[in-house]
Amino acid sequence: MVMSKAAVPTSNEHLIRWVEKMAELCQPDQIHWVDGSQAEYDSLCDKLVKAGTFTKLNEKLWPGCYYARSTPNDVARVEDRTYICSQAKDNAGPTNNWIDPVEMRHTLKGLFKGSMVGRTMYVLAFSMGPVGSPMSQIGVQLTDSAYVVANMRIMARVGTPVLKEIDKGDVRVVPCLHSVGKPLAPGEKDVAWPCNDTKYIVHFPESREIWSYGSGYGGNALLGKKCFALRIASNIARDEGWMAEHMLILGVESPQGEKTYVAAAFPSACGKTNLAMLIPPKGFDGWKISTVGDDIAWIKPGKNGELRAINPEAGFFGVAPGTSLATNPNAMAALAKNTIFTNVALTPEGGVWWEGMTDEPPAEVTDWKGNRWTPEIGKQTGAPAAHPNGRFTAPAGQCPCIDPDWENPEGVPISAFIFGGRRATTMPLVYQAFNWSSGVYTGATMGSETTAAAAGAIGNVRRDPMAMLPFCGYHMGDYFRHWIKMQRNLPFTPKIFHVNWFRKDENGKFMWPGFGENMRVVKWIVDRVHGHALAKETPIGWVPVYEEINWKGLDFPREKFEKLMEVDRAAWKKEVIGHEELFISLHDHLPPEMIYERELLICRL
Ligand code: OXD
Ligand code: MN
Repeated sequence: MVMSKAAVPTSNEHLIRWVEKMAELCQPDQIHWVDGSQAEYDSLCDKLVKAGTFTKLNEKLWPGCYYARSTPNDVARVEDRTYICSQAKDNAGPTNNWIDPVEMRHTLKGLFKGSMVGRTMYVLAFSMGPVGSPMSQIGVQLTDSAYVVANMRIMARVGTPVLKEIDKGDVRVVPCLHSVGKPLAPGEKDVAWPCNDTKYIVHFPESREIWSYGSGYGGNALLGKKCFALRIASNIARDEGWMAEHMLILGVESPQGEKTYVAAAFPSACGKTNLAMLIPPKGFDGWKISTVGDDIAWIKPGKNGELRAINPEAGFFGVAPGTSLATNPNAMAALAKNTIFTNVALTPEGGVWWEGMTDEPPAEVTDWKGNRWTPEIGKQTGAPAAHPNGRFTAPAGQCPCIDPDWENPEGVPISAFIFGGRRATTMPLVYQAFNWSSGVYTGATMGSETTAAAAGAIGNVRRDPMAMLPFCGYHMGDYFRHWIKMQRNLPFTPKIFHVNWFRKDENGKFMWPGFGENMRVVKWIVDRVHGHALAKETPIGWVPVYEEINWKGLDFPREKFEKLMEVDRAAWKKEVIGHEELFISLHDHLPPEMIYERELLICRL
């Protein structure tokens, strides 16, 4: 397809040639350069409504909101179809799928050939991070999905302002090619959720390229998020001396006005969005929590040697089930308007509902598969109304507790890192690593029970180093080495902590109330950072003494706390065997610090 020069809103020859080449391969009917305007968004949404992909929600109840349902074969990230195609297999490491890049390119070219026939190819320029920030990165996604364009407009800064950045020249542009893999024959009627059973989510780390085929859902298709901001960015960050992490960023302000920022890594669907938007509980008068980001942090050494972080995203792609006015009122406010809901339930009034949104389910809804659902049917079939990985795509700026500096082009200074997983046993509520390398060990050996965010079995403990197992775009051993190395040039290093909100008692009941009460732990962490709180040494790290936690407003007796904080030496000896299993697979790339830290831990146990 030859593009008329007049219709092309960039002067970047390299970009124009690439778009032409990809159009030749994919053979779309038309090319649409996305400008990112409201008018364009509105007309795309209208088009999606006509196509049956979107349902416009009741404007009075859910202003500016749309509802979508995917097909049951396209509901989550597909980790087993996700590839890091580095030149050498060894550079992808044992935790990533790898196929020889030459072979993979051959496969992809075959799949993409004619994949957009009958469709429009959207050219979507996007900036991860505020446009023009020295910490931001630019990509261009070619996609045949208007649903993806609409979501990306919420999740990233898109369109004309980004093309202007590209036209300044001298900026890296990460090319991202995406197709749902469902070409349309002449006259063929489209389906509401086009996709393909064959799926490939492919990264070429050396050439910084992303090719995604067959899925229209979430991280598989919104390529700025996991594919760029984590898998490709982790490669760029390693080469350039910064960090691309699966972390939320939150600000904690004391009643005296002292502001501290922390970044926290948790595996998918472990409550990152809730922690990022925490509301301090009773007993915390004058304390404020603000949100910089809920999923990804790009972290770079600043001018004064501190680590500074930006949230590369502009929206929240949050898990809907479990989100409510009780668990996360800030998220509920953020998603109250201008939001896209996917795979939740639709109410007869033209609203949305999901499990956990209200105590009482509505009398009747249409479930995420499009079937009639009542609480009775739910009970009989066991099927939820919303898919457990049903999502909201909401503009971050709508969050009432968004941090005033969330778009600061210089980022915010990070004083602490928190690692955490979903662990029914072994892991105490909180501990502080002894130093940077023991902290890196703590993050590296993190484990968590699997959730619905990825396709596959739920509830098994898997090692998920720094919550990056599905997102680290190179060898995990080299990633640990990069973490160790980051400290070398830092005059001031953030303190490192581990938390576990999910420990259970012998009856299988959660021992810690979680949600807003997590503030008690966050405050101890901030106090430690500033040298205001005492701690007790244990074999695994420093833990709070009972008196150092603010218990105002919560009845949590000392004995209960001791049980929640217990470091069971026998359980930990088993835990270390789990670390060993991960390390064996990474052996020749593992930095020596990890081995020594493990030996020290074993000795202390
Ligand atoms: C996410 C994930 O969507 O981690 O953030 O799966
Ligand atoms: Mn995530």
